[in-house]
Amino acid sequence: MKRIQELMKELEPRLVEFRRDLHMHPELSMKEFRTTERVREALTEAGIEILDLGTEVGVVGLIRGATEGPTIALRGDIDALPIHEENDVPYRSKTDGVMHACGHDVHTTSLLGAGLILNELKETLKGNVKLIFQPAEEINEGARLLIDHGVMENPRVDAVFGLHTTPDYPAGQVAVKSGGLMAAVDTIRIEVKGVGGHGAIPDSTIDPVVAACSMVSNLQSIVSRNISPLDSVVVSIGTINAGIANNVIPEVVKLTGTARSFEPSIREKLPEMVKRVIDNSVQAFGATASLEYIYHLPPVYNNESLVDLATEVVEEICGKGSAMDPRPSMGGEDFALYMEKAPGFFYWLGTGNKEKGYTHKWHNPRYNTDEKALPIGSGVLALSAIKALERF
Ligand code: NI
Repeated sequence: MKRIQELMKELEPRLVEFRRDLHMHPELSMKEFRTTERVREALTEAGIEILDLGTEVGVVGLIRGATEGPTIALRGDIDALPIHEENDVPYRSKTDGVMHACGHDVHTTSLLGAGLILNELKETLKGNVKLIFQPAEEINEGARLLIDHGVMENPRVDAVFGLHTTPDYPAGQVAVKSGGLMAAVDTIRIEVKGVGGHGAIPDSTIDPVVAACSMVSNLQSIVSRNISPLDSVVVSIGTINAGIANNVIPEVVKLTGTARSFEPSIREKLPEMVKRVIDNSVQAFGATASLEYIYHLPPVYNNESLVDLATEVVEEICGKGSAMDPRPSMGGEDFALYMEKAPGFFYWLGTGNKEKGYTHKWHNPRYNTDEKALPIGSGVLALSAIKALERF
């Protein structure tokens, strides 16, 4: 433990420099070419083996311990967002309209730091550690891509850990939640069909606009009347498209939305509830509706058996009382897909700093990070791997 603390301290200036370089050169999902190259260079320089999964972006490193044993994966996502940075800092994004506004520069750097720490300690490791630098989290594609390319096999991953920054806690605190931390993400696509005609002669039409408006209001009754007030669900319609002229009643209205939930049993029932509401709502007007309900991402559901390990990790790295019990988020994370393949745990790493004004939420153009969190993120991931190697 003392050695990890020493390495965290030793690595800090390098981690700050690495993070600032990434922050200045953010790249959108599936276009993380420079970031991929920078990570490759750093791993190669440290003598860490790189596994070739055959993807253009993203990097997977492998540290083989001194003795045979399980394989623990650590994951950090590397992509940025189409947001124009409004921070006035020396390391401001040099690419107009693209910004690390979700802290993935911090995740990449923390994972690199963990890799460098574990590489120093590899003679003492009882198994392997895989370092997964994942592209395209923001578009929910990166985890699926790497899993399809075999990232959880050869060697087979026995447990997986990851983290996300949070401005809600200061550097030095880390959120440790048992069970549901981030919601399941599902996509709704609806088409309401009527009969078009003249806006002045509605009686000769079946107006899909009126039917759709009623349907959207009724959809809110799923959360308020069909789900227990003690459970968390969201059904939001985000787009409505219909018509081209003010005096024409259109034939079709197209709507899209998102549904969020935590409990698998509730998630399973949602398509049926949505279908019932949309069918009956539009039938009242004589229209018909079709539904496409796409299960995108399962929830980030922290494995109960790893909560004690995670709490120990945080207390050993940051001190007693630094493991916080957070309110979950209805936001999603494709880390959930790794958790379908192996037991997993996802932390929220405190990166907020009120004095410095680092209080802005995820995806805000003024999002920023207290860099004191960089060695902490590295230490938390490294120690998670070490403890998990002893357990699995
Ligand atoms: Ni993010």
